Amino acid sequence: MMNETIDLRSDTVTWPTPAMRQAMAAAPVGDDVYGDDPTVNELEREAARLLGKEAALFAASGTMGNQLALMAQVGRGNEVILSDRCHIVFHEAGAAAILAGAQLRCQAVQHGQMSLDGIEQAIRKTPEDIHSPRTDLICLETADSDGVVLPLDYLRAVRAIADRYRIPIHLDGARLFNAAAALAVPVQEIAACADTIQICLSKGLCAPIGSLLAGPAETIALARRKRKILGGGMRQAGILAAAGLIALREMRLRLHEDHATARQMADLLAQRPDWFELVRQPEINMVFFRLTGYPVAETLLADRLAERKILINGPDEHVFRFVTHYWVTPDDVRTVMDQLEQLARET
Ligand SMILES: Cc1ncc(COP(=O)(O)O)c(C=O)c1O
Repeated sequence: MMNETIDLRSDTVTWPTPAMRQAMAAAPVGDDVYGDDPTVNELEREAARLLGKEAALFAASGTMGNQLALMAQVGRGNEVILSDRCHIVFHEAGAAAILAGAQLRCQAVQHGQMSLDGIEQAIRKTPEDIHSPRTDLICLETADSDGVVLPLDYLRAVRAIADRYRIPIHLDGARLFNAAAALAVPVQEIAACADTIQICLSKGLCAPIGSLLAGPAETIALARRKRKILGGGMRQAGILAAAGLIALREMRLRLHEDHATARQMADLLAQRPDWFELVRQPEINMVFFRLTGYPVAETLLADRLAERKILINGPDEHVFRFVTHYWVTPDDVRTVMDQLEQLARET
């Protein structure tokens, strides 16, 4: 790590690489609200091509990208079918209600999946009935913040239901490239299961800021208007897009390395079943575990490790999540385990 701190709280903590900083300094720019920024235009074209969609729009954050998808596709009071654990429901401060005026039809999930029957049952079948809200959108998320990747078969099955009822699908692909790496499939295969997709450049891909919403040209044109409403029309945003281009062209191709360091971490934790219990094998760059006989209280672990320059989040319902990324090396993983051992001995 550049600053000797090992930060396992999230892959959002990644700072830009030296190549990104150079590209940002040299980026040709223009006023993107006039459509004049060549670097933003290149990033949007590149994202659309990569995801196999007609168009893409640069947005400030994943939250903004998701909300633009809702604002462009959901009528006020109409329904969105989505997981009750997904980012839009849990971590976007109720934005769907405030901005799109959407009614969220939340479904329980098992291992990240809403049941196919549940989705079909939740679709409103009588849109002409004045009592009935209409179903305007189905949202999926892969990989999700529990590190779960949706299998292609599942995505295709949801697509088939959506097609039967002519309802579009929005995919929150904040970690789409992690999902593609985990499934070892081209990203277009996942993207083909959705109408609109939001991808984040600022997570494991190391760009400092930015997301893209990709989809049909007409939907993206509408989203561009909605982005203006949110105050999200940025001017010389090519400075940011330059880092995004490196994220899309280079950084997405190395995510399997972060998955490998997560597996390395999981293997080391599994070697101490007297201290740690893995919740499941990592699918992407996230390791989930509980403390079993570890001698430090779970409420104190984050503080004790911070004293040793290792940053983690506190547990969520007794489960810790360690996230690996570009700035966490295999040596860092060994350091974390050594420090956990030392801490236990000194307690
Ligand atoms: C699955 C998912 N969707 C959306 C987001 C939102 O991204 P942002 O923090 O850029 O708004 C996140 C952020 O961690 C996420 O994990």
